Amino acid sequence: TYVIARPCVDVKDKACIQECPVDCIYEGERSLYIHPSECVDCGACDPVCPVEAIYYSDDVPDEWADYVRANVEFFHDIGSPQGASVLGNLHRDHPITSALEPQCN
Ligand code: F3S
Ligand code: F3S
Repeated sequence: TYVIARPCVDVKDKACIQECPVDCIYEGERSLYIHPSECVDCGACDPVCPVEAIYYSDDVPDEWADYVRANVEFFHDIGSPQGASVLGNLHRDHPITSALEPQCN
């Protein structure tokens, strides 16, 4: 799977959403999250993010390693909805994102 890491926080450019063929990039309050089992690893989202927030899970920089877990745990209570666009902004975040001070990117 691919993972959205900290650079997305408080940026939420959303260029990635337009590229995803399976609509598996879900919106939280301060960041977006890739569904780990819905992502088909096409990689189309990766190059379009202007802040380089998106990585293949094995390639996430060490400083953002926790975001692999965050992109999994974000979905624990909603399972696999099979479509992000109908849900829109879920108005919540993983705790590691919620705990961050406002990011000035
Ligand atoms: Fe975030 Fe980059 Fe997508 S800033 S919303 S991961 S294009
Ligand atoms: Fe979609 Fe990116 Fe995965 S475009 S299928 S979230 S690699």
